[in-house]
Formats: sequence, structure tokens, C-alpha cells
Amino acid sequence: MKCPSLSQCNIDIRRYLQQSRITVTKFIAIFFCILTALFIVYYFLFDQTDPQSTVVYINNYNNNISSSSQLTLPPDYSFLNNIKDKFKPDYVIRTSDKSQKPTCIIIIRTADGAIGNRMFLFASAYGLARLHQCDLYIAPWILTDLRSVFTINLQDTPIHLITKDSILKQPGLYGRYSSCTLFDDLLKVPLKSNLTFYEMIGFYQAFGYFIKYKDEITYLFQFNQGSIINNVPLVEQLLKAVWNIPLNLGIYTKDNVTHKYLKLLLTQPPSPLIPVTWIAIHIRRGDFLTFFKIDTSVEYLNYAMNYYRRKYINCRFLIASDDKDYAQKNLANNSDIFITPKSFFSGDDLAALALCEHTIVTAGSYGWWAAWLAGGNVLHDLTYPVPSQNCIREHYFPPWFVFPHNKPNITQKFNSSNSSQS
Ligand SMILES: *[C@@H]1O[C@H](CO)[C@@H](O)[C@H](O)[C@H]1NC(C)=O
Ligand SMILES: *[C@@H]1O[C@H](CO)[C@@H](O)[C@H](O)[C@H]1NC(C)=O
Ligand SMILES: *[C@@H]1O[C@H](CO)[C@@H](O)[C@H](O)[C@H]1NC(C)=O
Ligand SMILES: *[C@@H]1O[C@H](CO)[C@@H](O)[C@H](O)[C@H]1NC(C)=O
Ligand SMILES: *[C@@H]1O[C@H](CO)[C@@H](O)[C@H](O)[C@H]1NC(C)=O
Ligand SMILES: *[C@@H]1O[C@H](CO)[C@@H](O)[C@H](O)[C@H]1NC(C)=O
Ligand SMILES: *[C@@H]1O[C@H](CO)[C@@H](O)[C@H](O)[C@H]1NC(C)=O
Repeated sequence: MKCPSLSQCNIDIRRYLQQSRITVTKFIAIFFCILTALFIVYYFLFDQTDPQSTVVYINNYNNNISSSSQLTLPPDYSFLNNIKDKFKPDYVIRTSDKSQKPTCIIIIRTADGAIGNRMFLFASAYGLARLHQCDLYIAPWILTDLRSVFTINLQDTPIHLITKDSILKQPGLYGRYSSCTLFDDLLKVPLKSNLTFYEMIGFYQAFGYFIKYKDEITYLFQFNQGSIINNVPLVEQLLKAVWNIPLNLGIYTKDNVTHKYLKLLLTQPPSPLIPVTWIAIHIRRGDFLTFFKIDTSVEYLNYAMNYYRRKYINCRFLIASDDKDYAQKNLANNSDIFITPKSFFSGDDLAALALCEHTIVTAGSYGWWAAWLAGGNVLHDLTYPVPSQNCIREHYFPPWFVFPHNKPNITQKFNSSNSSQS
């Protein structure tokens, strides 16, 4: 049936309906049924809300590896762009909050030490608040400090952050110190009533408080753009040194490139280039030499590097340290070793270490977190924690940390009571 105009067509339909004695209402009902059915069929057949991240290797790169020494670069890295960059865990899709008044509050308002210590305290507070569905009070200065390096997108989590410090003046607050003690009573559900208004004092350097929310912790500790941006020239240098290829930021600029994308550039060179395995090394010396009276050893570091050289193909090592001269003097004689620039702040260095796939750590919470953020395997020196810290090693080290250095110099037994930490 051809319609010269829409109104003409409607008239035609109505006439047709009258003739066939089907009421307009019935027609509409049938029409919608058909529409719905078609929609359902379409949905199942064609709609993939979450398309597979197919590797779209769009290029006109031919497999002619030229005989000249210079390798040609594929024109683009578009195959990398399909990867979901900003990993957001499932819980981010939140339904409306129907919760009652919170039954408990976790508080942190003091934090000693440096970034690694603060990360532990924050992660443990988050883990406990999550476990017990408590509200969380974090002193604004602690959040500001953490956000100088990380995004800490708490608004994407189920945690309700209390911002009013009047909460601190309410009676019944119980505060307790921990260096690295995992208090059993904090992990019991439901929380004992004398722990429902709880201040965490000290360090709480025990992964048991937050391991259950591993992905969320990793999400909160995504690097902010300030930490990423200084790593762009470093990645450029590394690409040049290893494969002699230029930096290609694809759909990004240096102002919005993600940490994950930079890591992919380092770990997945365009074929046919041969991948390398990136190993981060964090060497903690500085005040540890006098404060804890411990040092790492070139022997341990070489042992650990050789461990990885045997285990993985084409290892490349990226060293960050509070004593880069030590690294330069003792380790830089090998062409597979790189050291981060001296101009790097601790946040830049942490982001650089996390670009790697596996880790070698000597001592301290900073190295611990570098290992966590890099993922992969972790080798740790045996000198830390020192006996006076009274840490239970199983509470401080996750099970995937291993200690290949077979010359322990440990004179005292470990103890779970507290002491100063770093
Ligand atoms: C390889 O290179 C030669 C010369 O540049 C060209 O003629 C040939 O088509 C190339 N082969 C492929 C598979 O692209
Ligand atoms: C909390 O109360 C329980 C008894 O219900 C007691 O055993 C425990 O020691 C108390 N904890 C603290 C930290 O005061
Ligand atoms: C990054 O920033 C540039 C310039 O501001 C913009 O053109 C580009 O779309 C941005 N890329 C992404 C992935 O946001
Ligand atoms: C150079 O590195 C090797 C390990 O690769 C080490 O055994 C050697 O002692 C180093 N030499 C110097 C002078 O540091
Ligand atoms: C272990 O460390 C102590 C003190 O730091 C030192 O006196 C001792 O010589 C070391 N032992 C070994 C086997 O290295
Ligand atoms: C741990 O320390 C406490 C008090 O300092 C002490 O009584 C206990 O014997 C120590 N335990 C071990 C295993 O050293
Ligand atoms: C733990 O540290 C706190 C604060 O420094 C102190 O008051 C407490 O006595 C210490 N506890 C033990 C068992 O050493």
C-alpha cells in the first residue's frame, strides 16, 4: 500500500480497519506486541552490550622485516585502545542507598611516616569500614596527602565518608595503636559494641585488614595524572633504549594518558618486536641505615636479578631508590638495568615501579606497595622487618612475597607487640 502522505495513509489504515472490524485499540495492542517481540529478537541476536575487546590490529604494516638494522614501527597502536583503561570494579554501579544509620565508624586522623605508611593506614581503615559497613572518617589532610599521588575515588565505592569533624567529639571513641598487629577482634562480624566507634592509631601494617577488597584498594590507589605525567618521558626513553621505537600515545596526550596504557606500551611492543619482562627494584636505604641499622646488599640484589633472569625472558630492571647513587655505583654496569631520574618525587617513582610486571623489594612499606601495585611476583630481602618492630611476618607479607636470599641475618624472634615502624 503506497501512501502519498502520512495522513492519507492513516485514513487508509482506518478504513481498512473498519472494513475488517478490528478496533483501533486491538490494532494498537497487536502492534506493540509485534514491536516488543521484534525488539527482543533484535536484542538477543545483535546487541552485545559489552563487546569483546577484540584485537583490532588496524595497520598496513607488512611482515617484511627489512634487512636494514632499523625496525619500522607499526603506524599505530590502535589495538591497545580497545582495552578498558579505567578499570572500575562492579560495585561502582550502585543502587540507591537504603541503609540505616551506620552501626559503626572507623576513624583515622593521625598518620606518621611517609606515603607507604599512610597507604597501609588508609587501606586498613577502608577494609575495616567495608567489612563492617561502617562509615569512615579520614582527616582531610590525610586524604589530601594521598591524593597528591593517587585518585582515591571513594565516591565510587560503597563507603560513606564522614567529613564533619564534630563526629570526633562524640563520647565513646576507642582508639588503639598497632604497628603491624592484626587484631582478631576487629575482624569478627558483627563488631563488638566496644569497637563500633574506633580510631586507628599508628600504622596498621597488616594486609589482613584489606586483602578481601584487593581490587577496590587497587582502584583507589590508581595514580593521578600528576604522577603519570612525569613518567611519560621515562617511558619514551625506555622504548627507545629497548626497541628503538618512538613513543606513540595513540588516542591520548601526555595530559590524559593512563598508567595502564603506559604499562601496555612497555609490556606489549607491537609485533614482531620481541617483548621484554620488566622488573621493578626498590632499594630502601636512607634513614633505615641508622634508624633500623639495616642495609640491603649487592649480593641480594644480584641474586634476585639472576632469579628473574632465569625465570623470564629478556628481563629489564627499573630501579627506584632513596639512594640512587648507590644503585648507580653498584648495579648500573649492566645494560639491562635502568634507574629512574633523580628529579622524580616519591609518587613519580612509585608510578614508575608500578609500570613493571614483577618486583624486587629490599625494605619498608613503600617497596611493599610498589610490589602490590605492580602486581606479579615479589622477591623481598630478609633483613626487614627488623626484630624490634615486632611484626609477625605472616601478617606483614602476603603469601606471594618470597624470600630467595638464603642468608638470613635474623638474630631475634619476631613478636606481635608494637614498636616504631616505617
Ligand atoms: C614486502 O616488500 C616488498 C618490497 O617493499 C613488496 O613488494 C612486497 O609486497 C612486501 N610484502 C608484503 C607481504 O607486504
Ligand atoms: C570489648 O568487650 C569484650 C567483652 O564483650 C571484651 O572481651 C574486650 O576485651 C573488649 N575490647 C576492648 C578493646 O576493650
Ligand atoms: C586526551 O586529550 C586530548 C586533547 O585534550 C583529546 O583530544 C583526547 O580525546 C583525549 N583523549 C581521551 C582518551 O580522553
Ligand atoms: C657488575 O654486575 C655484575 C652482575 O651482573 C656484578 O657481579 C659485578 O660485581 C658488577 N661490577 C661492578 C664493578 O659493580
Ligand atoms: C648480622 O647482623 C649483625 C648486626 O647487624 C652483625 O653483627 C652480624 O655480623 C651479621 N651476621 C652475618 C652472618 O652477616
Ligand atoms: C613478645 O614480647 C612480649 C612482651 O614484650 C614478651 O613477653 C614475649 O615473650 C615475646 N614473645 C616472643 C615470642 O619473643
Ligand atoms: C604500643 O604502643 C603504645 C603507644 O606507643 C604504647 O602505649 C603501648 O604500651 C605499646 N604496647 C606494647 C605491648 O608495647
